[in-house]
Order: sequence, then structure tokens, then C-alpha cells
Amino acid sequence: MFRDDALEGKTILVTGGGSGLGLSMATRFAGYGAKVAITGRDAAKLERAAAEIDPSGERVHTQASDVRDYATVEAAVSGVTARWGGIDVLVNNAAGNFLAPTEDLSPNGFNAVVSTVLNGTFHATLAVGKGMIERKRGGSILNIVTTYAWTGSAFVVPSAAAKAGVLAMTRSLAVEWATYGIRSNAIAPGPFPTEGAWSALMPTPEMEAEAKARVPLNRFGKHDELTSLAVFLVSDAAPYINGEVVTIDGGEWIASGGEFNGLTRIPREHFKAAMQAMRPKKG
Ligand code: HXC
Repeated sequence: MFRDDALEGKTILVTGGGSGLGLSMATRFAGYGAKVAITGRDAAKLERAAAEIDPSGERVHTQASDVRDYATVEAAVSGVTARWGGIDVLVNNAAGNFLAPTEDLSPNGFNAVVSTVLNGTFHATLAVGKGMIERKRGGSILNIVTTYAWTGSAFVVPSAAAKAGVLAMTRSLAVEWATYGIRSNAIAPGPFPTEGAWSALMPTPEMEAEAKARVPLNRFGKHDELTSLAVFLVSDAAPYINGEVVTIDGGEWIASGGEFNGLTRIPREHFKAAMQAMRPKKG
């Protein structure tokens, strides 16, 4: 889909790049010639991921950092800048989430998710953004949100509130930092299987089946479908896309709103026969 050198010359930092969608994006970016830095809390996990992304180590950089702790984020950004001269693209991918009835949440539980998702995104954006502004070469920020950033969702109130905040940050900075040639966009994925999200959010086969049935395309997303979109949005193929959130969910969220959408679950032939029987006859 892309030229082999689509991201040549770009340095990309992916938070939470040691596993899941972060690792998939980092791997794909490196495949198109980018230099990729991945951060996360677990140094050993980052090392394993780096070996997978680029066994030579030339195009991959790791630094353990917790997005909740600004000092560690700043240190990671300084490490990448010292090695490669600056950062062109930031992907705010690191997240935390769990299912919980809201009345059973503690303030600390709320804070664990919000400080990772919202504060963490702000921390990385601030540390990387300052460097981009100083370097005067522009840049691109891509935030991974979710469709319930605008619909809200039962049982994930901290995550929904935090992702809504990240979306507002995306749109705010799209305007504010356009002055510096920095674009801000977001991707809102529906269900894409990853070990982290699945163990926390789809722990039983019934919950997984229910989630799949809600997707009009009747399947979960594939990582390469999401990484293609990420490559496009951060690349020089999308220089005029700024302040946008692109949904990639097989039609899931929009299907939850239409009054008659549930009728698609009736076999189409039965539905057509019922409609035919109801049609007024001429004369
Ligand atoms: C209720 C819980 C809980 C649960 C933790 N807590 N899990 N409360 N139900 N299942 C509470 C704890 O009791 C504690 O509060 C507080 O949260 C902090 O817990 P810790 O275990 O100390 O937190 P920590 O080690 O910082 O872990 C953070 C985490 C964890 C968010 C809880 O799950 C994490 O780091 N996850 C990262 C990976 C991940 O979640 N990926 C999924 C992203 S998917 P008290 O009061 O007891 O001290 C996503 C979008 C999905 O974001 C979109 C799908 C379509």
C-alpha cells in the first residue's frame, strides 16, 4: 500500500510500544524506514520488542519510562533526541483500563486509569512538543482514543472520561500548535485483539462473542488494518489532515445508534419477505 521509504528520515516515539497495538505500529513504522523509539514501564519487555522490530538495533531505541511520571518521560525524550537529533512523530498509545461497576471504583482506581491515559498523553505531548517547537521542523502527534470517547460507555467510566479528554486535547492542539507546523490527529479503534486489552476487557468467551456480534462486519479488527491508517496519518501523505479523529471499528459505534439497525440481525431474506408482504398493492 505504501512506498518502502514512506517514513524514511522520520523519528517516531511510540508510548506503550512494548506490546499490543503499540508494538504493531512501531514494527510497521520501522518497516517503512522510520527510526522508532518505544517506551513502557518494563525494560525487559521493551528489549524483547526491540529485537522483534529491528534485530540490528540500528533503527530502534528503548527507554523504560512511566507516562504517569513526567520526569521519566522527559528523560526518555532526551535520550531519543541525544541519539537521533529530535522527534518528528509522537504516537500516544500507552493506556490502562479495566471493567468495573462505577460504584465499586475507588478514587485511586479512577486515578490509575486517568493518570495513565490523560495525564500520560499530556506528559508525552508536552515533552515531545517542546522539542518539536524548538527544532522548528514541525511534526505530527497521533493519539489513540476509542469510539466511547464521544459515546461514553458503561463500566469503563475512567477510561471514557480520560479518552474524551485526550480527544479534546487533540483538537485543541491541532489549532494551537499548527502555528509550529505540528499536526494533531487521533485514531478511534473499535475492538482489536491484544493481550492487554483482551485479558482486561473480554475475559470470557460470552463477552467476546457479544463484542463481535455488535460489529456490522462481524469480526474484530486486524492489526495491519490499524497500522496502515497510522502510517498514513503520520506520513507526508497526509499533510493537510489536522484535528481529525478517524474511526476504525467495522461500523461498530454508528450501528449502536440507528433505531432500525437491529433489523440487520434478522436473516436478510426473511426481512425482505416481510417487507414485500407489507407493501401496498397498486389499485
Ligand atoms: C476495580 C481496580 C481494578 C479492577 C485495579 N483497580 N484494577 N479496581 N476493578 N479490575 C484499582 C486498585 O484497586 C487500586 O485502587 C488502583 O486501581 C490502582 O491499582 P494498581 O494495580 O496499583 O494499578 P497499576 O499497577 O498502576 O495498574 C494500572 C492499571 C493496569 C490501569 C490498573 O490495568 C494497567 O497498567 N494496565 C495497562 C494495560 C492495559 O490496561 N491495557 C488495556 C488498554 S485498552 P486502591 O483503591 O485499591 O488502591 C484501552 C481501550 C480499550 O484502553 C478500547 C476497547 C474498544
